[in-house]
Amino acid sequence: MKCLTIVGARPQFIKAASISRALLEVPEMEEYLVHTGQHYDPSMSDIFFAELDIPKPDRNLGIGSGLHGLQTGRMLAALEDVLLQHPFDAVIVYGDTNSTLAGALAATKRHVPVIHIEAGLRSFNRQMPEEINRVLTDHASDLLMAPTQLAVDNLRHEGIAPDKIHRVGDVMYDVALYYAEKAEQQSQILNHLNLQAKQFILATIHRAENTDHPERLATIVAFLSELSRNIPVVLPLHPRTRQALQIHNIELAPTASFQIIEPVGYLDMIMLEKNACLIATDSGGVQKEAFFYQVPCVTLRDETEWQELVDLGWNTLITAQGVPSDLAQTALKFIGTSGTLGQYPYGNGKSAHHIVNVLTNAFA
Ligand code: UD1
Ligand code: UDP
Repeated sequence: MKCLTIVGARPQFIKAASISRALLEVPEMEEYLVHTGQHYDPSMSDIFFAELDIPKPDRNLGIGSGLHGLQTGRMLAALEDVLLQHPFDAVIVYGDTNSTLAGALAATKRHVPVIHIEAGLRSFNRQMPEEINRVLTDHASDLLMAPTQLAVDNLRHEGIAPDKIHRVGDVMYDVALYYAEKAEQQSQILNHLNLQAKQFILATIHRAENTDHPERLATIVAFLSELSRNIPVVLPLHPRTRQALQIHNIELAPTASFQIIEPVGYLDMIMLEKNACLIATDSGGVQKEAFFYQVPCVTLRDETEWQELVDLGWNTLITAQGVPSDLAQTALKFIGTSGTLGQYPYGNGKSAHHIVNVLTNAFA
């Protein structure tokens, strides 16, 4: 079976690491990896290929940044070309980015079966570009690999045939387990940043719903500054956020207790997450990783696709509106708390094998 895997953005490289490894273990599986080039800074792309032993992409389409229509359209045309040049039995896409949607559309138009990994997530907020991408991708897909029961339920409610849906767990959990030891051995980030275990807050911000609204972005910056007056904060800054701060002329000033750094590699990120006393984020992946490492998390959004984290008490939504010092006081209360223990909604760390088994059975 020959699969075309399409990746393009940071979280997709991380997710693909687990599946690529599992595919390599099955002799009859052949993977052709295409990078759309949606993310291209070395700290947003190359570092993950190097650290996570992901095969070098067979093609990089070099699409780069752009408005949604332009970026997705360019990907669609380039991916169609790839599909015309090579016969594939299936196309694998991950998550909810523009690369995901372009891959699903290109494949389904060429009548190549689409496998969507991380299917069924919903925020029910159609203003989010990710929500449109994931709904359309799910409905174009032939096999939907849902990480959670809630994701399965969402797909069923939308009328997707039950035999297309497989609850497989979360590939990000596989990767988190696989690289935990390597991170402990290799990462020097805590020393480099002079951080003490459980005595700092880790923050990440990049969602369009926050970065593209100057009031929200300014509130988040003031919120993080306020936190840093209580406990050191470290913020690996996403390039989208860096750009938005410039465009909206919002000052983000580092201090001794507020470190603003370049995006870090995955191994350093694991160590920052594990050792933080609190994580403040709007990232989908980081919310879950907080849970994997049992670190309380506040999510600066109005809703989350990972509702089970909220239900289990590990994650609290904080809308990025209001008085920043009040928001900070709310967030600080979660330090030292924990949610329900002993619940594993994301599978057993063998999600990639589960997925490859589904593929082997479907395409045998
Ligand atoms: C994309 C995904 C989002 C995902 C995120 C992961 C879409 C619509 N959004 O958001 O779902 O959570 O990736 O990180 O697909 N830029 C750089 N260097 C890079 C990449 C981006 O400078 O390597 C800057 C550019 O100014 C670009 C901006 O970041 O315009 C946004 O990049 P883009 O890929 O369009 O969206 P993300 O915000 O990264
Ligand atoms: N991540 C990383 N370095 C960073 C920030 C995030 O390695 O500086 C990892 C993080 O651990 C998680 C993934 O990137 O595995 C999440 O990606 P991101 O937040 O960009 O996107 P989302 O998950 O929100 O789509």
